[in-house]
Amino acid sequence: MPACLICEEPFQPFMSFGRMPIANGFLTEAQFPQEFFDELTVGACPRCSMVQLGRILPPEQLFHENYAYFSSISTRMTEHFRRFAEWVSGSFLTGKDPFVVEIGSNDGIMLQNFAKSGMRHLGVEPSANVAQAAQARGVRTVCRFFDEKAGREIRGEHGAAQAVLGANVICHLPNINSVVRGVLELLDDRGVFVFEEPYLGDIVEKTSYDQIYDEHYLYYALGSLDRLFARHGMEVVDVVPQQVHGGSMRYVAARRGAWPVRESVVRQRAHEEALGLAHPGTYLRLRARIEESRRKLAALLRDLKGAGKTVAGYGATSKSTTVTNYCGIGPDLVAYISDTTPGKQGRFSPGVHIPVVPYERFQESPPDYALLFAWNHGAEIVEKEAGFRARGGKFLVYVPEVGVLE
Ligand code: SAH
Ligand code: TMP
Ligand code: ZN
Repeated sequence: MPACLICEEPFQPFMSFGRMPIANGFLTEAQFPQEFFDELTVGACPRCSMVQLGRILPPEQLFHENYAYFSSISTRMTEHFRRFAEWVSGSFLTGKDPFVVEIGSNDGIMLQNFAKSGMRHLGVEPSANVAQAAQARGVRTVCRFFDEKAGREIRGEHGAAQAVLGANVICHLPNINSVVRGVLELLDDRGVFVFEEPYLGDIVEKTSYDQIYDEHYLYYALGSLDRLFARHGMEVVDVVPQQVHGGSMRYVAARRGAWPVRESVVRQRAHEEALGLAHPGTYLRLRARIEESRRKLAALLRDLKGAGKTVAGYGATSKSTTVTNYCGIGPDLVAYISDTTPGKQGRFSPGVHIPVVPYERFQESPPDYALLFAWNHGAEIVEKEAGFRARGGKFLVYVPEVGVLE
């Protein structure tokens, strides 16, 4: 049985998605024979309630010089991080000569805002290609994995930080206790740890099971974070729900007693109680809904094929690897996936090997139906594709329900 990444308690996974390739492992035809597969399971710790993967891959297998995801590809996210940075500055960086550190700063999408205003900042980013993109736009970045040692060394070199930030990265860190110790090493007494991750409550409410893939080891909620931070003499002092990435939560944590606990935290605890996030039955019901979603999506795609319709994927997301492999969706059902990321184009999707093509192909010969793999960017995409829809094109979605987007 796997052991909890937070408290080491053994747990029984509540669900298996079967054999899975690396979610972000877009590959060439020559690489097909060596493709890596591993069973993907997910479970909830009976002691601290943290929902997590049953098996962890070595981080170097996922984060390296060919990391496929460049954050700045999305204009909405660029704007989101501009506002995030503004909020952090106004709330926590009002003292003299503040210093801000970001874990998993990628291509500098968030830190560029601090760099522009001349604030002392440092990004910690192990994937060399994206770290270089950040440096190229003037964002100070060190290429390494963040952990306790990194926190101590950065403090030694730059002094204490008033804020440590993270977005869509803390869920990637299997050595979470070491990371929290590193954050504590780095923060001054009133310093805050502000991070924003896909929210477990949204996964349960929307059946957005495609959030579950190899890079996302941990599916946070306030309840499990309360237990994590209690181990380290910290507490959550604020939570702010976010619409991005299909439903995220921004958490502010600090040393216990350093900041007043906001009313938002009390309200969120009650919401999680009502959702039953600490009860095993909640996850058995979630599994039943996921299985139902698979049946419906596979049936819909087969029906469309039977009716002679063409279907293409929109957005070669890491998340879609769970959907295509779990539901058995290959090039016979989805002819190609359109994606704007140059590094993914000309390659094939992990496991099921659907060709990934440049967006221009989608524009030149649009399919009858576009399966919205990048549903978390849905608002931006639907707006951009008004022309596709005006000419009769339709979007297919599977979150929160399988169907045609009206
Ligand atoms: N914060 C960005 C990027 C999220 S992707 C955004 O929200 O868009 C996650 C990033 O975290 C990747 O760039 C990955 O290389 C990085 N990462 C993974 N493990 C890390 C670790 N231990 N320390 C710091 N960064 C890490
Ligand atoms: P994400 O879900 O991890 O943010 O990845 C989004 C993927 O979708 C990324 O590979 C880029 C692609 N994409 C498009 O192809 N067109 C778009 O308009 C958007 C927003 C994303
Ligand atoms: Zn636990």
